[in-house]
Amino acid sequence: MLQRPARLSRGTRSDSAVIANDTFLRALKREPTPYTPIWLMRQAGRYLPEYAATRARAGSFMGLATHPGLATEVTLQPLERYPLDAAILFSDILTVPDAMGLGLSFAEGEGPRFARTAADEGAIAALEVPDMAKLRYVFDAVREIKRALAGRVPLIGFSGSPFTLACYMIEGRGSADFAAVRRMAHARPELLARLVDVNARAVTAYLDEQIAAGVDAVMIFDTWGGLLGADAYRRFSLAPMRAVLRGLTPGRDGAPVPSIVFTKGGGALLDDIAACGAHGVGLDWTVDIAAARARVGGKVALQGNLDPLVLTTDAATVAREATAIVRAAGPAPGHIFNLGHGIVPGTPPDNVAALVETVHAESRKLRSATAVA
Ligand code: CP3
Repeated sequence: MLQRPARLSRGTRSDSAVIANDTFLRALKREPTPYTPIWLMRQAGRYLPEYAATRARAGSFMGLATHPGLATEVTLQPLERYPLDAAILFSDILTVPDAMGLGLSFAEGEGPRFARTAADEGAIAALEVPDMAKLRYVFDAVREIKRALAGRVPLIGFSGSPFTLACYMIEGRGSADFAAVRRMAHARPELLARLVDVNARAVTAYLDEQIAAGVDAVMIFDTWGGLLGADAYRRFSLAPMRAVLRGLTPGRDGAPVPSIVFTKGGGALLDDIAACGAHGVGLDWTVDIAAARARVGGKVALQGNLDPLVLTTDAATVAREATAIVRAAGPAPGHIFNLGHGIVPGTPPDNVAALVETVHAESRKLRSATAVA
């Protein structure tokens, strides 16, 4: 299965050798840091007026995502406002099925739509790992963002999980319960297995190209794996993610590129997820982070897990809830602060400022209190 196609680019990783603030990468490797690093899923997005302005200039979401200069501009916008500890590539997980020929569009206010689905035998058999040249706009954006960051903070690349991509490919759009996907898992397991297998090979090639273009870490977003029963999750979601991680080309130093896996709703299977080969595991807000740290904190870094709706309240509530998570996670190395899912539109930007400040200050305090004790 692992015939690795020639990469589109090589050698640019040397640009990323020196990073001024590498707190995020250290925490991901469970090395000590003076404070808990923080970045936020969807940190570049509609809650920022400057994002709305750039998106209006681009005309559409895909217009923005396929223009490396504009993608660079919006990736950097949250970093100009807040002292965040990482940047995340501005793109979308659905660029991969789009490159497979499914025809992605985002209707205003309606979320993603595919012109064609991959829901039956014929359509799934016809799928192939896309030519990575079709996704060149993503790798060009990575190179441009790395240049613009000039080593300030690390850049996170990402992909959807093979299973979460399959959810959108089967249904053609978002869904509250992805019923057709779950029916396929039960009635046509071999068909779903074929779909996640081609997706796993596509995701491996896609992340490898992002790594070659210069990302410092990769994250796999498994937004819908939590909809599956335990056995189906292990087969259709976790095993393909493990295959992706195993298939990635090592970094320049010969070590695996730092990686994070985030299964929303995956709390009940935390032990399995922590053994999948990722350096870090993302937690949604339903998980008790103190219990999770006690359980798997010796094996993986944990990332999370503030309920994004806290950010829609007020600065005092944000500070209180963020402090509770910093303290519950404790001073041991290996916590990266994040939300339990993406920032919601309508979040007041000032609340994000309060969050970043609280996490940095409270985690510094916690570490010095522990050092004295
Ligand atoms: O985190 C970041 O700042 C990086 C950018 C990023 C986007 N999408 C930009 C985006 C990332 C990492 C994603 C991942 C993504 N996309 C996921 C996995 C994570 C998650 O949120 O569960 C999923 C499931 C998608 C698919 C997707 N893209 C949906 C369902 C939607 C519409 C609904 C929504 O939440 O907006 C998108 C569009 C999208 N992707 C927007 C952004 C900023 C909003 C589009 C706009 O500007 O109109």
